[in-house]
Amino acid sequence: MPCPALPDGFDFTDPDVYHHRVPLPEFAALRRTAPVWWNAQPHGIAGFDDDGYWVVTRHADVKEVSTRPDLYSAALNTSIIRFNEHISRDQIDVQRLIMLNMDPPEHTRVRQIVQRGFTPRAVRSLEAALRGRAAAIVAAARERGSGDFVTDVACELPLQAIAELIGVPQEDRARIFDWSNKMIAYDDPELAITEEVGANSAMELISYAMNLAAARKECPAKDIVSRLVAAEDEGNLASDEFGFFVLLLAVAGNETTRNAISHGMHAFLTHPGQWELYKRERPATAAEEIVRWATPVVSFQRTATRDTELGGARIRAGQRVGIFYASANNDPEVFTDPEVFDITRDPNPHLGFGGGGPHFCLGRSLAALEIDLVFNAVADTLPDIRLEGEPRRLRSAWLNGIKELKVRYG
Ligand code: HEM
Repeated sequence: MPCPALPDGFDFTDPDVYHHRVPLPEFAALRRTAPVWWNAQPHGIAGFDDDGYWVVTRHADVKEVSTRPDLYSAALNTSIIRFNEHISRDQIDVQRLIMLNMDPPEHTRVRQIVQRGFTPRAVRSLEAALRGRAAAIVAAARERGSGDFVTDVACELPLQAIAELIGVPQEDRARIFDWSNKMIAYDDPELAITEEVGANSAMELISYAMNLAAARKECPAKDIVSRLVAAEDEGNLASDEFGFFVLLLAVAGNETTRNAISHGMHAFLTHPGQWELYKRERPATAAEEIVRWATPVVSFQRTATRDTELGGARIRAGQRVGIFYASANNDPEVFTDPEVFDITRDPNPHLGFGGGGPHFCLGRSLAALEIDLVFNAVADTLPDIRLEGEPRRLRSAWLNGIKELKVRYG
């Protein structure tokens, strides 16, 4: 049914919308009037053989969908809410090799193995190395005087963190970074990365990771790769499974954290009171508010496994259900003054890392650590950082991305 508050043909996954803004007023209108709303689409435009999807906007409903994998599958149509009209069904199905697009019991098995690499202890063990990297990144930016905060600062630490996590030798990192960047840029024509280049980069990254896994299987070292591929007794990943896991890390851990950092910097620069507060008190609550404010992943999707009801809507088996974290994170039922950037917000039950349930972000504490380290380094070294222009946004159907943020470093 058309929503009176929305223009005809409005689509909550239209990349041209996100090129300019996140449609927060439109989400608010739906939360008030039709919290689970059918968004009709021209047939097949998102790459699926259907005519639209449900838009789930309330915090409670996003949690409900996320925590019921029996009713809402991540595997049937993957978690990605929009590909494009040219993608084939085979190309969609192959995405199920990554855990984000698996259901139990396959998902449970892989998750149990890989979460060994993300224990609080494993993340803490990276802290000293990443702190040094954050300081070096920010010091190099200061030398430049002014520049693009996204490329100078925000991009760098997430890439280093993943390379550090999986133990990529220093001499291979430039190649890994290049493949990762090419893989995630395909939706924005200005970045001039063709789908073919993106796909080739993904293949090269997978094959690099598979070789690394095979080498560690042969000759285990004291690193996470060895723990994931060589621990026979507790179950392990085959080399190709490890390859797809690294691919997922490069996508899931990179652009998300980069955008949280870029949006966080922009929020501080446009809310000078919060920046002064941060520099003075460094509240431990800041990183979570930055993720809520940025909500780098606007939405993922599930597919109903049987007929059901949600938020007053009747959902049919096989229909796609979009879970809009960006809307949940601005739901006034849960957040007082959600439109206010408040780095002391506590509690802050945001859904930026997912709505709970089996797929909840594996890298959550690593991401929070990275955000914390970057802003501490910026506050120490670039306390007078200033904005030098409006941010330029990424064109994407489901990422809230900034691709350029011009600043003067001091
Ligand atoms: C601010 C940064 C980040 C944000 C906003 C973010 C967000 C998310 C979201 C929304 C999900 C899906 C949750 C669901 O479907 O229920 C997810 C899953 C995932 N994230 Fe993150 N993420 C971030 C950083 C990271 C980092 C640094 C890593 C690892 C290096 C990572 C690894 C993963 C993995 C492996 C999954 C899939 C988990 C599964 O399917 O079981 N993420 N993330």
